[in-house]
Amino acid sequence: MRMVDLIDKKRDGKALTTEEINWMVEHYTNGDIPDYQMSSLAMAIYFQDMNDEERAALTMAMVHSGDMIDLSKIEGIKVDKHSTGGVGDTTTLVLAPLVAAVGVPVAKMSGRGLGHTGGTIDKLEAVDGFHVEISEDEFIRLVNEDKLAVIGQSGNLTPADKKIYALRDVTGTVNSIPLIASSIMSKKIAAGADAIVLDVKTGNGAFMKTLDDAKALAHAMVKIGNDVGRQTMAIISDMSQPLGNAIGNALELKEAIDTLRGEGPEDLTELVMTLGSQMVVLGGKAETLDEARTLLQEAIDSGAALDKFRTFLGNQGGNTEVVDHPELLPQAKYQIDIPAKSSGVVTEIVANEMGIASMMLGAGRQTKEDEIDLAVGLVLHKKVGDKVEEGESLMTVYSNTESIDDVKAKIYDNITIAQTGEAPTLIHTVITE
Ligand code: URA
Ligand code: CA
Repeated sequence: MRMVDLIDKKRDGKALTTEEINWMVEHYTNGDIPDYQMSSLAMAIYFQDMNDEERAALTMAMVHSGDMIDLSKIEGIKVDKHSTGGVGDTTTLVLAPLVAAVGVPVAKMSGRGLGHTGGTIDKLEAVDGFHVEISEDEFIRLVNEDKLAVIGQSGNLTPADKKIYALRDVTGTVNSIPLIASSIMSKKIAAGADAIVLDVKTGNGAFMKTLDDAKALAHAMVKIGNDVGRQTMAIISDMSQPLGNAIGNALELKEAIDTLRGEGPEDLTELVMTLGSQMVVLGGKAETLDEARTLLQEAIDSGAALDKFRTFLGNQGGNTEVVDHPELLPQAKYQIDIPAKSSGVVTEIVANEMGIASMMLGAGRQTKEDEIDLAVGLVLHKKVGDKVEEGESLMTVYSNTESIDDVKAKIYDNITIAQTGEAPTLIHTVITE
């Protein structure tokens, strides 16, 4: 086989065979195929698309390019949740103990944050002593015993995706549905998921800015998952404004505890219940979504969900006292209120820019090596659709420096107050095929 023939074929709009895709992924990963040929093929895919068979083949070729996590020693159906990323997205921190509390095993491999979206591990590390450096055996034992453990990314997972993604990043080929969908799905499958629940975000804070693009990506991923034998469904949820009220590591951890106690923000709670119900049904712990929702509500009301979180933190070295004493979490030196400059209704809180404001305070990494400040961030008191009076606090900034003029300017530039407005739709659609 010659790479140039595959490039010609795709450029002319023809489909590649599974054999050709396997060959191309194998030889690109081991360095036989040069970057210039792979980038040319990626551009041809960008313009000519891939059919369903090609997408599934590309996904599985990338899965097989490296190690796969073997979760077969964990009893039950391992359901993984994946979010396409957002600002202040505290969902995983709440969902994991919540569904574990009703018996769905959660064996989560997670990463650190980069840029303006936070990583689950960073948020958990706001708890003193908590760590994800556990052995694979320990990980499996904890999930079997307590239904929940989180491990840091280990092993050589999907090296083909890493290499192709890095190339796409600098060749104008990131924004291609077949390439994004296969990239995300390959990582979930390599991480051992039997079933996958996807939370595809839409809006300015998301990767997919429009609802149509989000739907196309969701359909593509659901189709790949189901075609390769992993039951997969997706919901499309709003990321035009930040999710919940808190943005920042310790602040989101506290928000997760509040939500597990049944006292969380309305939007975060609703999203968690929607995703959680799907996970419980896929995990075989309920027949219907209504039944699943009832189980989840009971776990919150009885305190079982919060207890599960406590057990989980303790199992991985964390100080479980934080659950009842959130003041033990890292605290910022200054709390600075941001008063509304006029009265009216909040009509816009640009999610992306709030993420950047939080990063300017030190909550996020610009490069992989950056140290982050776990204490800082934002807590919104008003969301889109809320009434506000002039002088009332829109949000509190948690900062370790007193001079935050640049952060304030960024916030004011990205919140709009008008005469009328309403809350955005939180959950747009559910996609099962
Ligand atoms: N996230 C991924 O993991 N892969 C992509 O291609 C785009 C976003
Ligand atoms: Ca939040």
